[in-house]
Amino acid sequence: MTARILSGREYAAKIKEAAKREADLLGLRPGLAVVMVGDNPASAVYVRNKNKSCEELGFHSVMETLSANTSKERLLAVIDRLNADASIHGILVQLPLPAELSDAEQEVLNRISPDKDVDGFHPVNVGRLSTGQGSLAPCTPAGCIKMLEYADIPMDGKHAVIIGRSNIVGKPMAQLLLAKNATVTICHSHTKDLAKIVREADILVAAIGKPRFVTADMVKPGATVIDVGINRVEPKKLVGDVDFEAVSEVAGAITPVPGGVGLLTVAMLMQNVVTAAKMQLQGNCNIEKTDKGKMA
Ligand code: GUN
Repeated sequence: MTARILSGREYAAKIKEAAKREADLLGLRPGLAVVMVGDNPASAVYVRNKNKSCEELGFHSVMETLSANTSKERLLAVIDRLNADASIHGILVQLPLPAELSDAEQEVLNRISPDKDVDGFHPVNVGRLSTGQGSLAPCTPAGCIKMLEYADIPMDGKHAVIIGRSNIVGKPMAQLLLAKNATVTICHSHTKDLAKIVREADILVAAIGKPRFVTADMVKPGATVIDVGINRVEPKKLVGDVDFEAVSEVAGAITPVPGGVGLLTVAMLMQNVVTAAKMQLQGNCNIEKTDKGKMA
């Protein structure tokens, strides 16, 4: 069997078109602020792509670049300013933070107003997602779900297996698949008989950061395989967490790397910016006016 290739380009374009249509109906220009601390080269590429997508859709886009030795207090002050800026509907602090700030990561993410938290990382949004009230879900898993919907791949009653339990992908992916009535199993580094469980998957999501970890013998014939990994194996070669060549002979559908999930993440970010703008416009959010008349 040769798998159907789920093209990130094709589905990202659909997500962006829908976001743009929704933005046009809003009557305001959605605004995104991306905060980048330090000069991690991979992060710089992602951040550039996020700004480029904003430009493409006509969104307002602000880039806050801070040096690697920025203090926590200064970073929190930047977030406070963006929380209070009415032209900014979405705020994203690019991760990872430099080593000096890594202990403060959760405090930094918690400082972003939940209603501007277009990454869906704030505990309020994590809670909203897990109780079925989610509107700002993490972009990578939310983009994957949109792709499955557009590709007409059923989730209801299917066994979805996720490899990886990160806050950014594994855990929110499980919540989103549960909300689609899939039966969900999360595997991780301590899972016994991982290959046996993975072989039971109708939908397999690999998000572990290990190049070509999923081999053809671990995949049920006809399964849908979503590869979230992006691993650099040679100076210029990127591969996923799935052995694409071999697995595409067994799977029913598969995402490539590059050209797969990475593009969906940025597209879904654009949708989240529109969703956040809409909530703020409708007053359907928890941003409160302080006594100084500023939004807190
Ligand atoms: N670093 C890697 N993925 C992400 C993401 O989805 N959001 C942010 N803010 N940083 C990341």
